[in-house]
Amino acid sequence: MKLILPDRIAEAVEPRIAAAVPDCAIVHVDQKGAPDGDLADAEVLLRWWMSEEALGRILATAPKLRWLHTPSAGVDHVLLPEVLARDIIVTNSSGSNAIPIAEFVLMLMLGHAKRVRELAVLTPENAWEQAPKLRLDEIYERTALIIGLGHIGQEIARRAVAFGMRVLGSRRHPRPTPNVERVVGADGWRDLLPEADYVVIAAPLTNATRGMFDAAAFARMKRDAYFINIARGEIVETEALIAALRDGRIAGAALDALPQEPLPPDHPLWSAPNVWITPHICWSSPRMRDRVIDIFLENLRRYRAGEPLINVVDKAAGY
Ligand SMILES: NC(=O)c1ccc[n+]([C@@H]2O[C@H](COP(=O)([O-])OP(=O)(O)OC[C@H]3O[C@@H](n4cnc5c(N)ncnc54)[C@H](OP(=O)(O)O)[C@@H]3O)[C@@H](O)[C@H]2O)c1
Repeated sequence: MKLILPDRIAEAVEPRIAAAVPDCAIVHVDQKGAPDGDLADAEVLLRWWMSEEALGRILATAPKLRWLHTPSAGVDHVLLPEVLARDIIVTNSSGSNAIPIAEFVLMLMLGHAKRVRELAVLTPENAWEQAPKLRLDEIYERTALIIGLGHIGQEIARRAVAFGMRVLGSRRHPRPTPNVERVVGADGWRDLLPEADYVVIAAPLTNATRGMFDAAAFARMKRDAYFINIARGEIVETEALIAALRDGRIAGAALDALPQEPLPPDHPLWSAPNVWITPHICWSSPRMRDRVIDIFLENLRRYRAGEPLINVVDKAAGY
């Protein structure tokens, strides 16, 4: 069996591959997808963060590729036409980043309730003068609506409940979900919007979710509700979000996933009121890389043993 391994991750993965699957041959590729050996008979690709062009280059030179693993949870940038057309199994690392992202979302909800951004910029000159104007809130007994109750959504729900929040949620296949009082299907979340103090997007970007959070959705939110997107910018209609912020239709928004990344400095989102933009960083944690490698190595063992893989992506559904 031959594995294609990006050289930037080789040092961390290669010693562990030797222990898991001793007869695995390895060809390295650089960030542009250029190999240091022959890819013609390569079966497996561990994609590390690389451009679509680099991935396309590897696919074009590896006709026997059977399985592609990505370190990300989202696969919208991996399901290229060639990946969809060919008989390639795609697995992702969903779950590896659920904990840091859920912590980040709680930070955003608390940050909004406790007005952290305003507190952080108080100065010695104005702190006590400003204090009476800063009315802080609680998240206790507030309602969070989580759209997407997978690995990330469920970790958010667990933490929200620990803070005494009520959690509602939506998933494509609705079923009882721990810590979630009410679970609805992919079309049901709109009816729950009027109840939510916090709306969190934690669904994948697919044909069904692209642009789904539109003006009609913002119109159904409470005026003092807070909108959080840690999934993908394209799930939200940017114009509708900007209008909702400008019109005071919602209290504010925290966006770690943007319609363009990097978000250009002149993009109107930067100047929209009450918006907190972070640069796609909610996943960041020193434990992420090892969790991704653990998932990949478990799958490599399974692949070698002919067992079903974990974290298999449904290419038709797009996640
Ligand atoms: N900002 C970042 O750094 C970052 C990092 C990691 C991930 N993400 C994004 O977060 C997404 C979720 O990650 P995850 O690991 O939680 O994925 P996951 O475990 O696959 O969960 C996805 C969830 O979304 C639900 N879903 C799918 N289509 C839906 C729809 N139309 N309406 C409502 N719910 C829908 C699924 O429903 P079922 O349970 O019924 O299948 C599932 O509950 C990723 O796809 C990625 O885009 C962003």
